[in-house]
Amino acid sequence: TKRLTLRDIAAMRRRGEPIAMLTAYDATMAALVDRAGVDMILVGDSLGNVVLGHETTLPVTLDDMIRHAGAVKRGSARALLVCDMPFGSVTDPATAIENAVRVMKETGVEAVKIEGGIAMVPTVEKLVGHGIAVMAHIGLTPQSVHQMGGYYMHGKDEASANRLREEARALEAAGAFAIVLECVTPVLAAEISRSLTIPTIGIGSGQDCAGQVLVINDLIGLNTTPPPSFAKPRADVASVISAAVGEYIADTKAERGPIPLPRRAE
Ligand code: KIV
Ligand code: NA
Repeated sequence: TKRLTLRDIAAMRRRGEPIAMLTAYDATMAALVDRAGVDMILVGDSLGNVVLGHETTLPVTLDDMIRHAGAVKRGSARALLVCDMPFGSVTDPATAIENAVRVMKETGVEAVKIEGGIAMVPTVEKLVGHGIAVMAHIGLTPQSVHQMGGYYMHGKDEASANRLREEARALEAAGAFAIVLECVTPVLAAEISRSLTIPTIGIGSGQDCAGQVLVINDLIGLNTTPPPSFAKPRADVASVISAAVGEYIADTKAERGPIPLPRRAE
C-alpha cells in the first residue's frame, strides 16, 4: 500500500469525499487504525492527557511528540501523518521552523499541526514557504485553556463568529492544507466549511465539515473518565481490559496446591 499524500486529501475535498481522521500515539494503535482504513492519523498533543497523565496539553514537549510520532510512523503504512506542534514550540516563525524541521527530519510525518488564529498566520506562511505542510486548528484550542478560561463552544456570538470566519480565511490564504474546527457551533462550522477550498476537519463541531477527527481513546471507550459529550464511543475497551485482567488475576491466584519451599540443610 502507498501512503496518502496532500494531493489525495485535496482531491477528496474536491470530490466531496469525507475525510476520516483519528489520533494515535503508539505503533500498535497506529497499525490498527491504519489497517481499518483511516485517511489521516494525528499524533495529537492530547498525548499529554491520554498517555502521559497530565491535566492539560501544556506540559507536552517537542521530544515527547517526536518520540510518539516516530512510533506512529513505524506502525502505519497508508494514512497521511500529522504531528501536533506542542505548546511553546511555535512562539515565533524562526522557532517554529527550527522545531518543525526537527519533527519532519526525526519522525517522517507528512505534516504538522499548529493551534491558533491570526497570530499564527506569519508562522504558517513561513513553514509552508519552507516546504512544510501545515494543518491549522481554531475554535477551542486546548493549549490556550488558561487564557480562554476553560473548554467551551466557540462562535456563539457574532464577534466570536466573525473572528473564526476571518481566521479560517487568513489561514487558508497563508497556505494551510486543512483546518481543524474544534467545538465551533455546527451552523458556523458548516458555513466556514463551504466557504473554504481546503478541507475543514471537525471535532465537536457538527457533521457538516469536510472531515472529522476524534481522539482514538474516546472513540473506543479506552479511558477512565467520561469522554467529551460530542464523542460517541463505539466500543467499551476499558471494560474488555478490566475483565481480561480480572480473569488473569483470579486464574493466577486460583488454588493449585502449595508450591513447597526448599528444604534447608540443618
Ligand atoms: O491533540 C489532539 O488530539 C487534537 C485533536 C483532538 C484535534 O488536537
Ligand atoms: Na492537539
